Amino acid sequence: HRHLLGIADLSPQEIEGLIDLAEAKVAVSRTREKEKTALRGRTQINLFFEASTRTQSSFELAGKRLGADVMNMSVGNSSVKKGETLIDTAMTLNAMQPDILVVRHHAAGAVALLARKVDCSVVNAGDGAHEHPTQALLDALTMRRHKGRVARLTVAICGDILHSRVARSNILLLNALGARVRAIGPSTLLPSGIASMGVEVFRRMEDGLKGADVVMMLRLQRERMEGSFVPSVREYFRYYGLDAAKLSHAKPDALVMHPGPMNRGVEIASDIADGPQSVIEEQVEMGVAVRMAVMETLLAEREAGR
Ligand code: CP
Repeated sequence: HRHLLGIADLSPQEIEGLIDLAEAKVAVSRTREKEKTALRGRTQINLFFEASTRTQSSFELAGKRLGADVMNMSVGNSSVKKGETLIDTAMTLNAMQPDILVVRHHAAGAVALLARKVDCSVVNAGDGAHEHPTQALLDALTMRRHKGRVARLTVAICGDILHSRVARSNILLLNALGARVRAIGPSTLLPSGIASMGVEVFRRMEDGLKGADVVMMLRLQRERMEGSFVPSVREYFRYYGLDAAKLSHAKPDALVMHPGPMNRGVEIASDIADGPQSVIEEQVEMGVAVRMAVMETLLAEREAGR
């Protein structure tokens, strides 16, 4: 592949290959010797039209650990503010001959549109409620490191699935690798076609968490709920916030995951987010390794003409 736009474009073998390579990158990242070879002499531009803490900084670190020249385009200070379009902005950057563009945009499909116009490789760092492929890869790597495999794990994805690109990419990846996927949330926050996505649907946390190996909480994305139903925080936490009582329905050794940013006291209680079952910080660490693996693979495939 030239680009990574979504998990939907990857075969199970390609997903496993990326996770295997990322596992090797974890070991490298933990030593003081950074590789600085695979992307030496390459230029990576991060173009984020939406806010990010984890994704942007880990793509930057990943590029630097592989030896790339990394530039973070500050959209807030760019000519986007003067009305320049997404495509014109991308073509301007394309003229500077980058090797990789890492793009986040609030509109689903915007990153794929841009990928058709530019000469370099494009990585989707999140497009609207569509896909966030590197998040799903780092989530799978985290699961595999703790549980030894992804196949046959019961993974409960909980909360605002309707607005979540993280949920969508995870559902695709987990199904591809043979996990059992559950979606738990109020009807108002579940996409209409959810049952056809290969998931079992639950309305009550207590039912959906029963026997789960992994509990993946999602942020309530109030910024994407303009005009539609917005639940009150207190009511949402009571029914869908992960606390000790609800978590007790999952397996005793269930992993608690959250892609971040977290809203403590909304979708997850603070003591659970910081508790012994939480692997939330490890997910962040795995993000750097996965992004190294993805960028190295894309450039190697491009060089090989695949
Ligand atoms: N998980 C995730 O995408 O976090 P950021 O929005 O901080 O990048």
